[in-house]
Amino acid sequence: MKARTVKPGIVALALLACASAGAQTKSSADGIAEYRKMLEDGNPAELFEAKGEALWKEKRGPKNASLELCDLGKGAGIVKGAFVELPRYFADTNKVQDLESRLVSCMEALQGLNAAGISSTPFGRGEQNNVTALATWVAAESRGLKFNLPQNHVEEKRSYEIGKRVFFFRGGTHDFSCASCHGEDAKRIRLQDLPNLTKNPGDGIGFAAWPAYRVSNGQMWGMQLRLNDCYRQQRFPYPGFGSEATIAVSTYMGVNAKGAESIAPSIKR
Ligand code: HEC
Repeated sequence: MKARTVKPGIVALALLACASAGAQTKSSADGIAEYRKMLEDGNPAELFEAKGEALWKEKRGPKNASLELCDLGKGAGIVKGAFVELPRYFADTNKVQDLESRLVSCMEALQGLNAAGISSTPFGRGEQNNVTALATWVAAESRGLKFNLPQNHVEEKRSYEIGKRVFFFRGGTHDFSCASCHGEDAKRIRLQDLPNLTKNPGDGIGFAAWPAYRVSNGQMWGMQLRLNDCYRQQRFPYPGFGSEATIAVSTYMGVNAKGAESIAPSIKR
């Protein structure tokens, strides 16, 4: 016996058609902004924040110590405000370091973990997961603060200049540089707006948005992984984790973002 009822699937399709007809009055950028707002209500980055805070306080590693004495640039153990001033110069390592490479230095110095081993661990595995969680929490502690990277030390100035060169360096099969995609206003790849990173792109954009939770693959990404993926898009070889080039290009973007408010950890498509 066949009842001539309308199938639920067809009703759903009809509804979808109406919804998309209404949506045509909005630009796709409005649609994306709306979608992002909806996602913000339950940003899974919060889970990584909680894990990062617990890891900071947990006694771990061969030295059975916590990271609570780690100096992120504002003095031992001071977390609030540290994120918006990184990368910066550290006298103990005699290097300009970004958040992730600095965390790894602290894990080695305080906990006795192996920095080189962590740096060569692929993203999303083992201690790299812990670095991402820690970076997520440290960034969250500076939410709403404005970027203000120090540029007093000669190494900090040098890092900015190297970063600028890295940003404009063209090569690879497509002869791309970072600037090919991020050097002008109002560029877009498919539905992704590409921020102009040669100047302050605005609050919560670019450098001020990462670490971020990526809905498309369900992963939490720190800035090092964000950069890795942009090098992939640029058809360049992957840079080393915490390499001088990735830190320099971060210094360049961070200094350019002076005054921009941090929303990290954010949520991305
Ligand atoms: C082939 C184009 C392309 C190149 C070259 C490229 N990127 Fe990207 N970049 C993208 C895309 C696409 C996104 C993702 C935008 C999104 O998902 O909203 C992105 C995102 C970013 C973001 C995060 C922006 C935000 O607001 O979330 C940063 C920072 C960034 N890129 C830096 C760089 C740097 C530094 C380089 C050079 C090493 C580079 N990119 C090279 C395409 C590119």
